[in-house]
Amino acid sequence: MSDFLTIKGITAGYGDGPAILDDAKMTVQEGKVHCIIGPNGAGKSTMMKAIAGMLPLRKGEITFKGENIAGLRPDQMLRRGIAFVPQERALFPKMTVRENLRMGGYILNDDKALSSRIDEIFDRFPILRERADQHAGTMSGGQQQTLAMARTLILRPDVVMFDEPSLGLAPKIVREMFQIVRLIADTGVTVLLVEQNAVMGLRHADWGVVLDLGRTLFEGPSAEVLADPRIQELYLGGQKVA
Ligand SMILES: Nc1ncnc2c1ncn2[C@@H]1O[C@H](COP(=O)(O)OP(=O)(O)OP(=O)(O)O)[C@@H](O)[C@H]1O
Ligand SMILES: [Mg+2]
Repeated sequence: MSDFLTIKGITAGYGDGPAILDDAKMTVQEGKVHCIIGPNGAGKSTMMKAIAGMLPLRKGEITFKGENIAGLRPDQMLRRGIAFVPQERALFPKMTVRENLRMGGYILNDDKALSSRIDEIFDRFPILRERADQHAGTMSGGQQQTLAMARTLILRPDVVMFDEPSLGLAPKIVREMFQIVRLIADTGVTVLLVEQNAVMGLRHADWGVVLDLGRTLFEGPSAEVLADPRIQELYLGGQKVA
């Protein structure tokens, strides 16, 4: 279906523990926003970690632009163009906004290019320019999330993965965060999202993936996921979504 990024039959777990992902799959289309939903403990974060190379795969394939990239390390995934913002955001709280952005581009090894890319980020996210010299840890949750997302863009990735970007944010800020997601996708970057607020996540996505007990139960256009009565009952809090 897609020869961009395909995740097929992946099985993975932590250490010698049980398989947390069991035959999970996902089709990723270039330039689209994808939202992974599912109950707590379903394996959503584990799925992102597995794609990012942070967990060894026991089985399965990850193909990206025609190549099997399963088994690559996180830094190799990053160099291939797949960036990841974990649930805990992983900023350096005692560093400034600018320093955090510099850290995002350290593998460039080119100071001039890095500075000009940071300038581009400041043009796209003016709030970060305003806060350039502020310690990241002293900013609001929304600003920190903006920084975490913007930082991935320094390396001009093809794919960005955001785990629960709306976590702990006020509703108004959550809406802004989804606008940023759309902005990123509009520049041609493919987005994978995990969202606790499944209805809202799916409404802002093109493609929906339902994960439960480590297995992909359904994937398809997000409008179809939202309209499916069984998915509504089991995973969307019984909400009828037109
Ligand atoms: N570092 C870890 N070591 C061992 N087990 C883990 C680890 N991280 C997660 N797990 C286990 O893997 C399972 C899936 O967790 P995961 O974090 O992927 O779920 P999730 O769908 O992201 O849930 P949530 O909605 O709560 O974020 C859970 O049973 C969890 O206890
Ligand atoms: Mg999670």
